[in-house]
Amino acid sequence: MSVLTQSPGWQALQAHHKTIARVQMRDLFAQEPNRFERFSLQVGDILLDYSKNRITTKTRSLLLDLAREADLPDWIEHMVGGERINTTEGRAALHIALRNRSNRLIAVDGQDVMPAVNAVLSRMQAFSETVRSGAWAGYAQGRITDIVNIGIGGSHLGPEMVCEALKPYGSAELSVHFVSNVDGAQIAQTLQRLNPASTLFIITSKTFTTQETLANARTARSWFLENGGDMASLAQHFVAVTNNKDAAAAFGIDPQRTFEIWDWVGGRYSLWSAVGLPIALAVGFERFTELLDGAHSMDEHFRTAPLHENMPVLMGLLGLWYGSFFGAETLAVLPYDQTLHRFPAFLQQLDMESNGKRVTRDGEAVDYATAPVVWGEPGTNGQHAFFQALHQGGKLIPADFIAAAESHYPIDRHHDMLLANFFAQTEALMRGKTAAEVRAELQAGGLSGDALERLLPHKLFPGNQPTNSILLRKLDPGTLGALIALYEHKIFVQGMIWRINSFDQWGVELGKQLATVILAELETPDPVSSHDSSTNGLINAVKEMRDGS
Ligand code: F6P
Repeated sequence: MSVLTQSPGWQALQAHHKTIARVQMRDLFAQEPNRFERFSLQVGDILLDYSKNRITTKTRSLLLDLAREADLPDWIEHMVGGERINTTEGRAALHIALRNRSNRLIAVDGQDVMPAVNAVLSRMQAFSETVRSGAWAGYAQGRITDIVNIGIGGSHLGPEMVCEALKPYGSAELSVHFVSNVDGAQIAQTLQRLNPASTLFIITSKTFTTQETLANARTARSWFLENGGDMASLAQHFVAVTNNKDAAAAFGIDPQRTFEIWDWVGGRYSLWSAVGLPIALAVGFERFTELLDGAHSMDEHFRTAPLHENMPVLMGLLGLWYGSFFGAETLAVLPYDQTLHRFPAFLQQLDMESNGKRVTRDGEAVDYATAPVVWGEPGTNGQHAFFQALHQGGKLIPADFIAAAESHYPIDRHHDMLLANFFAQTEALMRGKTAAEVRAELQAGGLSGDALERLLPHKLFPGNQPTNSILLRKLDPGTLGALIALYEHKIFVQGMIWRINSFDQWGVELGKQLATVILAELETPDPVSSHDSSTNGLINAVKEMRDGS
């Protein structure tokens, strides 16, 4: 048994789980009329209703005991204090410094990082304002109309998700595109629509070694040079965001046009840094700082609120309750907001790359579940697709529902219909429909006897599916910043209790190594025999298929 599963807090929860496992939430609601007041809290413009969870006040207090036993408050201090908590890479995890709007001193090894953070923010402001005003001229002296961000993973998902979410704040004069996939289809289809004279590329890569990003950047550079641009004008059309200035310079990007990020910014936590340049360009620097302000307010809440009133702590504990004690394997993230359609994809990296770990920070194998498989689609689309399985599929699938009270698009009854569906689904998932209720309904519809009995099991809803309801006043930059920070900290809470390093990602390396070998093999005519028979077979089949064409 591991240190965690042997701990008194864990053991107490395991015993408690036995008493809770068969309790129906609809009974808890009947017994506790004030369950909403008891299990909800508001931070700024975000309301979290966690009353539709399989918990009692005892569950919550046992979960909070576990957090204390795991020294969570100390871990929060270690993170915000700039300690090198990412031990396998010897780095701090200081994304909170990127949005430290109070400018309080945050140091790594005794050195305040804030002057450097503020200097890059000032450069981002100057650059984004020049481009947005039209003062930044392309080689034909016209304004920039299109930005193409080339980057992948953390250098893509966060900025893209935010640009989509903040579309209502976008400018009609500037379009932002994202190219991440090494599949040539994406860059080809993007460039097809663009004019090199009015296009600005941002090559975003913390390491500036990522295969996909460099391939796309090279293709973009060739397209630019072959379609009117020249080496002298490259600097007006290519900028970089990186921790590796030398590699960006070797690629041909003017060091004056390179925006720095630091090793203590994890890729998936980087949208607040210069990686957020496409956001500042899309919605303006002022809106970008509102995003930072929102995240900062959630950071301050996380840092200072007592654990029992701490939104990221409570959400983290609830996720852990289902994953580690009920055996739930996934988390559905269901934004009832079309502009948040990339939020589940962003969270997949944030959660699964952070906490998809099988050993503790000390290298001990874990004997409990860590990161859930995160998935989801915007509501109401999911209702007409996979919700069947949520209601009757027999698997425990905790879900986060997210929506804004106020819409940017108040058309007719759309927003009320959207919210009605959100609330109806969480109610249905919680309550279910009992045999007695189904029977009464069928009888009222005139059915009886065998016909009724045959249909009845199909119309039963077991319910008891846990959901969090996250209600935002309005999806504006500040609220979005706070929402993202909420999930970042939630994931941190879980990682610290699971005793893992949430800030490294060694699991992405093996595939990269093998792909380098296979790329070289694909480019030779000879059949390959150095792998297992499946991999050999696939490589050789490609060669044969191409020969045959
Ligand atoms: O391969 C995984 C990863 O390293 C992610 O952690 C990161 O966000 C992404 O690749 C992109 O890395 P980079 O910004 O260095 O190109």
